[in-house]
Amino acid sequence: MSKDQLPASLQAAAIAKAVREALSAISAADSLEALKNVRIQHASDKSKLAVANREIANLNAEMKIEAGKALGAAKAAVKEALDQRLITLSIERDEAVLRDEKLDVTMEKKLGLSGARHPLTAVIDRVVDVFVAMGYEVAEGPEVEAEWFNFDALNIPKNHPARSMQDTFFVDNSDSGVVLRTQTSPVQIRAMLTRNLPIYVVSPGKVFRTDELDATHTPVFHQVEGLVVDKGINMAHLKGTLDHFAATMFGPDVKTRLRPSYFPFTEPSAEVDIYFNDQWIEWGGCGMVNPLVLRACGIDDSIYTGFAFGMGIERTLMFRHGITDMRDMVEGDIRFSQMFGVEL
Ligand code: PHE
Repeated sequence: MSKDQLPASLQAAAIAKAVREALSAISAADSLEALKNVRIQHASDKSKLAVANREIANLNAEMKIEAGKALGAAKAAVKEALDQRLITLSIERDEAVLRDEKLDVTMEKKLGLSGARHPLTAVIDRVVDVFVAMGYEVAEGPEVEAEWFNFDALNIPKNHPARSMQDTFFVDNSDSGVVLRTQTSPVQIRAMLTRNLPIYVVSPGKVFRTDELDATHTPVFHQVEGLVVDKGINMAHLKGTLDHFAATMFGPDVKTRLRPSYFPFTEPSAEVDIYFNDQWIEWGGCGMVNPLVLRACGIDDSIYTGFAFGMGIERTLMFRHGITDMRDMVEGDIRFSQMFGVEL
């Protein structure tokens, strides 16, 4: 081809057609991705205009200028259209993101399961609150206890029938002198040995007995113990305290009664019953602290007297909520705890 002849690709009509095609493809591109492809087709090295551009080298000087101008204008028009479309599509994309990913931070969301304290823990806290409000202190003792605290100091010597009333887990073997406490009463002894008089303590805690787990027994359960040692304490104080305690647990109309009983560490001793849901039910044990126990703890029983009581927490929860199977309380199924809500 001669240098004086314009190749087909550089003819005005061809350039105009290439620009038209490019512009219509640009305005048809409906996404940034589509525009990228349009750019490759109409504005890259492979585009018609780029191919035409390479032909310019073969022209004479005069035609080079002409063709160069025409092509330059054509490419500028395409570039301008691409840039404009890019802006438009970017704005549209940003708006779509804002619209589609809109987040209402004030929207109410149903949260997953929330934690709740176990109902036994909630009852223990409530019991402690009742006594702390009356000026008692909380006293705690070890769950692995010396046999002496759990039995001997409580006036339950070896071979005493009361020992077999509480089937005992021994640590190591039955001669070790170490047991899992069968009751919270050893905390009474620890309190009397370590605290100054007068003593007003409440002692919640775990206790252990060799019972099989069934609807009415569990080898691990909880008791709460109360102990008062002061001058002039008598059985009326015990009864009044238990009445108040019962009212806080079972409502102001609950009735209580003391039924004579026997515990080696109290004298006299009684069972505390409550009249609840039209029947008398045994709630716990109580009595005046046996002077022998006071003396064993170095307390002058001619000056001081005291009372003590002990209740099962599981039993308390069972009456209070009509729970018929102990196992529900120990198996840790959260559906059980959820029925009680989150009592804080
Ligand atoms: N410790 C006794 C029991 O477990 C209950 C009790 C406590 C009785 C305090 C009298 C005084 O059976």
